[in-house]
Amino acid sequence: MRHTIAFSSLKGGVGKTTTALNSAYAFARRGLRTLLVDTDPQGAIGLSLDGVSERPGLAASVHDGELPEIVKTRLAELHLLPMGTVEAMDVDRFAQEARASEVVKRLVERAQDDYDLVLFDTPAGLGGMTRLVLETVDHVIAVVQCEPLALRSLPRLLELLAQLRETGSSCSLLGVASNMGSFRDPVILACLEELWQLYRDHVFETSIPRDSVFLEASRAGVPLGLLSRRPPPAAAVFDGLVAEIEGRLGVEQGGSDDGPIRLVD
Ligand SMILES: Nc1ncnc2c1ncn2[C@@H]1O[C@H](COP(=O)(O)OP(=O)(O)OP(=O)(O)O)[C@@H](O)[C@H]1O
Ligand SMILES: [Mg+2]
Repeated sequence: MRHTIAFSSLKGGVGKTTTALNSAYAFARRGLRTLLVDTDPQGAIGLSLDGVSERPGLAASVHDGELPEIVKTRLAELHLLPMGTVEAMDVDRFAQEARASEVVKRLVERAQDDYDLVLFDTPAGLGGMTRLVLETVDHVIAVVQCEPLALRSLPRLLELLAQLRETGSSCSLLGVASNMGSFRDPVILACLEELWQLYRDHVFETSIPRDSVFLEASRAGVPLGLLSRRPPPAAAVFDGLVAEIEGRLGVEQGGSDDGPIRLVD
């Protein structure tokens, strides 16, 4: 396995799960063996995908100490590790138990040979599970909704990363993914411009648009790319995003040099 990436934000509801899920699908479509791990005790990936929420996952393995059962998908290159069920009363305790069981570290070690990428969807906030994941992975993608409050909370995540690095963690910011952007709404556009000004080198050029197809996809319980035989244009946005991510990771496609490819030999 070459890369471990967390999708994180201090603020909730900004699109971490949506971005992690659709990026995982796009990576797998590009042939990279990808494992998407849900570390949110609310089981966000299970809530987003039809047929996943009933499966045991990370929660069960925290309790019984065994490494969890991976869920295969329609794409051979995409595997999932859902959360399973964490009782509402146990949510606070769960992160402590997960830390004590070293489940995330053991999972990354086990994934070493089988995957090119392990992506972690983390819960909102910087405590508990998020911190545990950030201590273990190499990269974090900060997901920011194009709205003032989400923008203002980004420095806190960067501070945490700096502090973790001082204590020996290797996790660094791979980039900032902007979500729910719109060039038509002046307030949202102003936020995007501020984001570009403040974090120019980090912000991915691909901005995920606000689009009601995301709600349709979550209602259907599928990634955007599987919403219909002809996927909506927003699905293609993730091809652009993951191409940028691959560029920053230095992932080579098919072992060949980058550059034009002749159509006719
Ligand atoms: N670009 C978008 N356009 C429209 N709706 C979106 C977009 N991105 C996400 N959503 C919707 O916004 C809601 C929150 O998204 P999501 O669950 O991905 O956020 P989150 O950051 O993972 O939330 P949490 O902090 O609770 O884990 C969902 O209903 C999702 O379908
Ligand atoms: Mg989420």
